[in-house]
Amino acid sequence: MSGRVVVVGSVNVDLVLRAERLPAPGETVTGGVFERHDGGKGANQAVAAARLGRPTLFIGALGDDLFGHEARQALEREGVGTSTVRTIPGQATGVALILVDRRGENLIAVASGANGLLDGETVRDALGRLGSLRGDVVLVSHEIPTATAREALRLARAEGARTILNPAPATGLDRSMLGLADLLTPNRRELSVLAAAETRRTGRRHGAGEDPARLARELIEPSAEGPGVGEAVIVTLGSAGALLVRADRPDEPIDLPAHKVTALDTTGAGDAFNGALAAALAAGRSLEEAIRRAVVAGALATTRAGAREGMPSTAELEAALAS
Ligand code: RIB
Repeated sequence: MSGRVVVVGSVNVDLVLRAERLPAPGETVTGGVFERHDGGKGANQAVAAARLGRPTLFIGALGDDLFGHEARQALEREGVGTSTVRTIPGQATGVALILVDRRGENLIAVASGANGLLDGETVRDALGRLGSLRGDVVLVSHEIPTATAREALRLARAEGARTILNPAPATGLDRSMLGLADLLTPNRRELSVLAAAETRRTGRRHGAGEDPARLARELIEPSAEGPGVGEAVIVTLGSAGALLVRADRPDEPIDLPAHKVTALDTTGAGDAFNGALAAALAAGRSLEEAIRRAVVAGALATTRAGAREGMPSTAELEAALAS
């Protein structure tokens, strides 16, 4: 069975400054180079899925400004369906200020603009126009209001889609979200934030230390607050690959090896991973196979400057997988 990828999330314009190193608070670093790129976690994920040949739709919100107009055109050039993208009058399009150092590490701050006004009604209306979601994968990230992300997951589940929650950023998420996700895809930092929040809310010490496999397992197990993640937690580990913890075999974590590249810019690597994962699952691939492909897609995305520029086509991904 193969289906569509539907991404619900943010769309930004990225204003990027590449410098020798990242400044400390209060410090000025000179000698940087300025670049502008298309961005936003949700929109990047949609582009990653579309480049891999999956029919892909994006549900999000833009301002009625020049940035918004250009961001919509950029998505359309990539073949992403934008009939489900709302332009909000009088609002600014989201902007991300990004600093990237010579090793490709980044710091990101976002002015949400229209992304912060994406509401549940817009998502309901957009998903309603897509009909049954059986066979489709709905990928939701968190640079949009929490209530909207929750509603997207709830509706997607109700319509039969497989749901992926990319908890980025991870702050403010609880069991009411985790229990609606078939797959959860935190990076190492996001996993720690989620585990610490569980401890704060429940008062229960998780006792898992910083072991990602144990932390992931705790997000799968039900708690007094509700059910956990339904199918699996996939922890992205950057240049170390990924870790898969399945709900049906929580005591047997699986390490998925990294794909070695020379990283120029890690911005968007997680988005490439999530988009490629959704695309492979929507194409009917097994979970492990989909993660292997997503790890390679994430690595390739770091080889060019900008969040989207390095995201691979199917041919590029196949070549890298064969190498
Ligand atoms: O994940 C990278 C993205 O995060 C950037 O494109 C930026 O817009 C922020 O949303």
